[in-house]
Amino acid sequence: MSRLVVVSNRVAVPGESRAGGLAVGLLAALKERGGMWFGWSGKTVREDSGRIHEQRDGDIQYVTMDLNKRDLDAYYNGFSNRTLWPLLHFRLDLVDYDRATREGYRRVNAMFADKLAPLLRDDDTVWIHDYHLIPLGSLLRERGVGCRIGFFLHVPMPSADLLQAMPDHLRLFSSLYAYDLIGFQTQRDADRFHSYVRLFGGGRVLADGMLEAPGGRQFRAAAFPIGIDTDLIARQAKAAANKPSVRDLRASLRDRQLAIGVDRLDYSKGLPERFLGFERYLERHADQRGSLTYLQIAPVSRGDVTEYRQLRGQLEQIAGHINGGHAEPDWTPLRYVNQNFTHATLTGFYRSAAVGLVTPLRDGMNLVAKEYVASQDPENPGVLVLSLLAGAADELKQALLVNPHDLDGVADAIATAATMPLQRRRERWQAMMDHLRRYDINHWRRTYLEALDSSR
Ligand code: F6P
Repeated sequence: MSRLVVVSNRVAVPGESRAGGLAVGLLAALKERGGMWFGWSGKTVREDSGRIHEQRDGDIQYVTMDLNKRDLDAYYNGFSNRTLWPLLHFRLDLVDYDRATREGYRRVNAMFADKLAPLLRDDDTVWIHDYHLIPLGSLLRERGVGCRIGFFLHVPMPSADLLQAMPDHLRLFSSLYAYDLIGFQTQRDADRFHSYVRLFGGGRVLADGMLEAPGGRQFRAAAFPIGIDTDLIARQAKAAANKPSVRDLRASLRDRQLAIGVDRLDYSKGLPERFLGFERYLERHADQRGSLTYLQIAPVSRGDVTEYRQLRGQLEQIAGHINGGHAEPDWTPLRYVNQNFTHATLTGFYRSAAVGLVTPLRDGMNLVAKEYVASQDPENPGVLVLSLLAGAADELKQALLVNPHDLDGVADAIATAATMPLQRRRERWQAMMDHLRRYDINHWRRTYLEALDSSR
């Protein structure tokens, strides 16, 4: 088996306490094959970008690169998160396009390529992740790298007409043609990319997910839905029941039910709509009044980007309005918390919640939905209310599927979830859990890497 080289914007270097599920899966692959993880160091430096840090842990080498403020602003805050993020989440209204940040994005990707290319061997397998690094594969090819290179897009691939709206879209998206395998979260994402290649990309769609670029180069673009470490999360959630923070949460509810949402504070997550859907629940289901408390955990994210700061203000306003109108001296219906918690504690919170609320306006997959299910007590599982517009809805069909724009529908789903009889809850949960056990994070990285290894 060839050495694996993983490249992503963020790197879970050893000793980092908040390595999420993706990091766990990628680390397992790196341990199996030996290899390197390359990416941004997470540090902003005063001097020039490009200083490299190296550390080793067994057979895995970690190589990270510093960026200065100017480069980070253009590459990460700018083009990645003010242009590509909204575009890929179907939000043309929020796209801020600027040639200068686009140039910065390219400059940082080229810097990654300059540092990485000399470290690569001819028989390596390189796996690049996410929208921050779309052109990296082609920049490596320009530097003479001939080994297998795959790309996985963690976020949605929007329809061709939206991509077309970005100035000079083809220069960026045709750089994907340099990869041997492009992975998407769902079949629909893969289909939308195929249609982009056909309609605007000058290429051809062949059989079995194969595409042909102008000039004849062939590559594959297919769906590989990401999973979670299902068994580990189930064990973690069971153990977490005894953590003081989980006990305190339970005790604070008294005999009320808990509904929980956990999301980065991001407009794609549909938080204002979810808050309003909860308010609608309080109004439409007055018979359930006072029986359920909603806890929304929303750690601040990308705080240097204007739209994210505005969202924060908006949510504070709506939360205050809802509690002002509905709270009682001994009950606050909505608890809104910006603090972050360890992964283990969150699984304990999920297990304490009768209702899991995952209602993004658009999401590539959404791993919180999967983790909520995996964390449940098999004897008394909670009910997942899930947006139709999350990739996870393609798999978790026994959730209560809602359209997050339909506030009445969200309100009614909360009421149905809170009162669902045990037998129905168990059946729905079991079906989803069987799926999550079979298609876990290890299945994801194995099927992707097998497909990449056999791509030529
Ligand atoms: O959903 C895309 C993604 O890159 C995730 O993989 C990751 O958890 C999240 O965004 C983190 O965002 P950031 O690195 O900007 O904090």
